[in-house]
Amino acid sequence: MLKTNKSSQGPVLILLGPPGAGKGTQARYLVMHANLYHLSTGDLLRHAVSKKTPAGIIAKKAMENGDLVSDELVLEILSFRLSEIGESGGVILDGFPRTLTQATMLDNLLATRSQAVSFVISLNVDDDQIITRISGRFSCANCNTGYHDIFQPTEVNGVCDKCGSNNFVRRADDNIDAISTRLAAYNLETAPLISHYNARGLLKSIDASKNIENVSKEIQSAISEITEAITQ
Ligand code: AP5
Repeated sequence: MLKTNKSSQGPVLILLGPPGAGKGTQARYLVMHANLYHLSTGDLLRHAVSKKTPAGIIAKKAMENGDLVSDELVLEILSFRLSEIGESGGVILDGFPRTLTQATMLDNLLATRSQAVSFVISLNVDDDQIITRISGRFSCANCNTGYHDIFQPTEVNGVCDKCGSNNFVRRADDNIDAISTRLAAYNLETAPLISHYNARGLLKSIDASKNIENVSKEIQSAISEITEAITQ
């Protein structure tokens, strides 16, 4: 899975979708099956905010409101993280690109690594389900494992399955006002990427309203289909 015969460089998979569509959840599933790095610009930005780095201080307000952070700032953070990964490392991009400008920036950045976008998976979920998913989301404060009150609870109540911690957090932007702003930003700035990547023959749309395991299976078969189309 996740190999093309076009290049010896690692594949670059983009997970596209509205807030709460399951991008982070599916990225974590995919990295268990493939030798890829999971790069979430949301996680990188939240880390910068928590460490109060110059980038984090600038990003904090926009993130709390649910607005997009500037293209330049996100690119800077992503470039730095990519530079830490070996040149041939394959990646799953979760939450990047989010604008057409970022898509161009990404192509340029990947070209410096002799890489290119390999596949784009678009996760589709309706707004009601997005709100249900986001309002029930929490994660382990120690190891960042993600959960949901109803759909993905811990095995033992109040104890992280992965590290045993009993310290959990909810995100500052997981409130109804910020969710509305994030959805509006997605529809205005990010949704145009669907036709952008479709025109390049790289995109598969998935019904992400199914349960986590079924969505994961669909993503894996979509990747196989795109790989076959590219390599024919
Ligand atoms: P980011 O962290 O990327 O947030 P987002 O795009 O809003 O996406 P989420 O993390 O909320 O959702 P997800 O799709 O990963 O869903 P998850 O798997 O957690 O960005 C945050 C902010 O940072 C942005 O608003 C912006 O300010 C800034 N930012 C980041 N990148 C940027 C960029 N490139 N440019 C500019 N600004 C940027 O799932 C959600 C919940 O649902 C979980 O609890 C999960 O358990 C559950 N769940 C998942 N799948 C299923 C399923 N199939 N069935 C049932 N439940 C499910």
